[in-house]
Amino acid sequence: MGLAPWRGPLARALHRNRSLVYSRYAQLATVDAQGRPHNRTIVFRGFYRDTDTLAFVTDRRSEKVQHIHHQPWGELCWYFPQTREQFRLAGVLELVDGAHPDPWAQAERQERWQALSEAGRQQFLWPHPGQPRTGDLPANAPVPIHPPEHFCVLWLHPQHVDHLELRGQPQNRYCYRQTPLGDWTVVAINP
Ligand SMILES: Cc1cc2nc3c(=O)[nH]c(=O)nc-3n(C[C@H](O)[C@H](O)[C@H](O)COP(=O)(O)O)c2cc1C
Repeated sequence: MGLAPWRGPLARALHRNRSLVYSRYAQLATVDAQGRPHNRTIVFRGFYRDTDTLAFVTDRRSEKVQHIHHQPWGELCWYFPQTREQFRLAGVLELVDGAHPDPWAQAERQERWQALSEAGRQQFLWPHPGQPRTGDLPANAPVPIHPPEHFCVLWLHPQHVDHLELRGQPQNRYCYRQTPLGDWTVVAINP
């Protein structure tokens, strides 16, 4: 099966907004055990190999991980300012921590760790996120070659994609849905 039909528009948006470093920042929503939504900014790290799976990195100790264990469904909201378009990608979130059994996933985790900047890796040496701060954060600690256990790759496997173009005539909106067989339908809808 080829790539999903929303990959073309998303690749175009990434390309046309490439001069804006923050065009790779998106907002990821999860829900907690009480059904309450939580939303945070996260950096898009690319796709997992030749798939439609979006890759992020995160800390297993962060709250979003508990949400995902309870409810793996999440939604990414991504606005591209240069081209004035929004993608909302909803689907199942999957965490790849040090205990993930798939060797391909572990290879990906190792690669994502190596690809992080020094400052990015340093953050994973800080104490438990979200806990009260009791002192200075370690700065310039030696960064290990192998990722710490709590370093996770986070995958989003989209099943619904909603693409809104504000710059259309007057606007365009497309709804992509994955069928149970894994292929995709696309419908132009009213904005
Ligand atoms: C510009 C920006 C980029 C961020 N990138 C990430 C990221 O790639 N991964 C991540 O886990 N948190 C990232 N964060 C921090 C999250 O927004 C959030 O504060 C943190 O993950 C804790 O969220 P949680 O308590 O809901 O798990 C970023 C924040 C900002 C402002």
